[in-house]
Amino acid sequence: MMTIGILGAGKMAQMLVPKLVSGGHRVIISNSRGAQSLQPLIQQLGSGVTAADPQQMLAEVDVVILATPWEKTPAAIAAAGSWAGKVVIDATNNRRGPRPEDLIDIGDQGSSEVIAKLVPEASVVKTFNYEPIPIFAAGLPAEGDSGAIFFSGDDTQAKEKVAQLIRDLGGEPIDAGSLAEGGKLHGMGGSLSLKLKLLAPKEAKVLLSSVR
Ligand SMILES: NC(=O)c1ccc[n+]([C@@H]2O[C@H](COP(=O)([O-])OP(=O)(O)OC[C@H]3O[C@@H](n4cnc5c(N)ncnc54)[C@H](OP(=O)(O)O)[C@@H]3O)[C@@H](O)[C@H]2O)c1
Repeated sequence: MMTIGILGAGKMAQMLVPKLVSGGHRVIISNSRGAQSLQPLIQQLGSGVTAADPQQMLAEVDVVILATPWEKTPAAIAAAGSWAGKVVIDATNNRRGPRPEDLIDIGDQGSSEVIAKLVPEASVVKTFNYEPIPIFAAGLPAEGDSGAIFFSGDDTQAKEKVAQLIRDLGGEPIDAGSLAEGGKLHGMGGSLSLKLKLLAPKEAKVLLSSVR
């Protein structure tokens, strides 16, 4: 059992909370408006989840899911305090919405490489970013053949922790490689993104080796 923090309490957080709780974990959600503003949502989400201000949330957990809008993320990270030693699961994307014109130009680097520079003393693992939220909502836990979940990162221990978390949610973790390589493959617009379903693990591995 882990306590997982989530920075952001919107659609991504609300999709993940019940799955994390069913997977045996406790969750602390946070937003910019303060813990009090989240009380109605806490009531709605049920047991296993509490709300805290970002600083308190960060101080209490080892693993934090980033689920803030791209343009709000740098300020959200800065306001939360020290990220040293944390595992940061980056679910963000550099976009304002779902349309092609909503993409925010960040040059050649992958979006999680940008995030990693904002939390240099933390270990960033990218996942849950590459399909619309309803696809993860419907596909986890997977029925029968587990739904493949791509993840990427540079820290082996952090990746093992996140892989176990993915299994706890009923998915099958598929290591797409480093943040630079894998992160781009399952970044928005990458060859592993927007299949509009969770692939079966075999299918995901074949696709991964074909695009590397
Ligand atoms: N929508 C999708 O299908 C999808 C799929 C994959 C990945 N993503 C990515 O996931 C991330 C979250 O998306 P979402 O759809 O969950 O967004 P959302 O519903 O708009 O929720 C964003 C949350 O972030 C909070 N927030 C904003 N500024 C903050 C700050 N400075 N400090 C702390 N919390 C702050 C907001 O609350 P307050 O404003 O009250 O602070 C809100 O709870 C985005 O980066 C998005 O690109 C989305």
